[in-house]
Amino acid sequence: MRILSGIQPSGTLHLGNYFGMMKPCLDYQAGAEKFLFIADYHALTTVRDPAALRVNVRNVALDFLACGLDPERTVFYRQSDVPEVQELTWLLSVVTPMGLLERCHSYKDKLAKGIPASHALFAYPVLMSADILGVQSDAVPVGQDQKQHVEVARDIAIKFNNAFGEVFKVPEPVIGGAAAVVPGLDGQKMSKSYHNTIDLFGDLKETKKRVMRIVTDSKTVDEPKDPDACNLFALYRLLASDAERDDLAARYRAGGVGYGEVKKMLFEKIASGFEPFRRRRGEFERDPGRVEDVLRAGAARARAELKKTLQMARQAIGLE
Ligand code: ADP
Ligand code: TRP
Repeated sequence: MRILSGIQPSGTLHLGNYFGMMKPCLDYQAGAEKFLFIADYHALTTVRDPAALRVNVRNVALDFLACGLDPERTVFYRQSDVPEVQELTWLLSVVTPMGLLERCHSYKDKLAKGIPASHALFAYPVLMSADILGVQSDAVPVGQDQKQHVEVARDIAIKFNNAFGEVFKVPEPVIGGAAAVVPGLDGQKMSKSYHNTIDLFGDLKETKKRVMRIVTDSKTVDEPKDPDACNLFALYRLLASDAERDDLAARYRAGGVGYGEVKKMLFEKIASGFEPFRRRRGEFERDPGRVEDVLRAGAARARAELKKTLQMARQAIGLE
């Protein structure tokens, strides 16, 4: 069983990224062969500031290592250190119908947000397919919003295999269970582009302010409440134990718990739950050479996989 996932270094990571993508990947640690990478080629579709790109790549690397990524057990790399992925993108483009890309919601959503239309933005799912198919992954853990892209990778794998013979494994998306869509402060999907995030390693004072801003309905303390219709509860349940979750759900239904109290409980969970990660992040931050070494070693392992796949694809398609 091989899994792969990637994340763009295009901003500060938040609880949505953690519970939707990072934690499901890290939880695979036992047994599966894991590949995780920082999608810097992808980030070029939106990031135009070279200094910011470098800082973001470093921060994503630190965030993953802080959250428990074990580089011995997970191949952790920077996408642009594996240039073979670009050649594979071209070979896959040959079998990619325009209509498949035209149907992608994410392209349309990005245009609606004012991101300029470019060939790279449009062809983004083909590059993503090369990431996935290049290491022959069986499963791709991502949040709900990336599901369609994994389906594109499946379609492209099937088209290529039908046209040129079996080269690629057909991957499955693995959507983060309870955390498929983590709500933000306003109840929409938590996303850096909606400015409704709680950052993973944000300043604690700022985090507290943000938690206090989470939108709820206007029920009084005494009124019974529906936990399943409450953003605050949706966030709390991600951080609480099963017993704590059930206990709070029962208190919601019975009435007598106020949103102010739940916000304090949620803040405490965030502060204490991520404290060990904060400490570990500090240790890696003081040792930048170690982070670079991890990424370089990961790239060497990923390149070996990509080279194997690329050679099979080149042969199948007639370049060799
Ligand atoms: P953002 O929406 O903040 O720009 P990205 O699109 O860079 O986040 O997402 C990176 C990864 O995190 C993807 O796998 C995505 O599905 C997951 N993810 C992002 N936000 C959420 C969320 N609110 N709930 C669940 N998963 C999420
Ligand atoms: N498109 C993904 C995102 O925006 C990042 C990504 C790039 C990715 N290549 C991937 C995710 C391959 C999973 C597999 O979050």
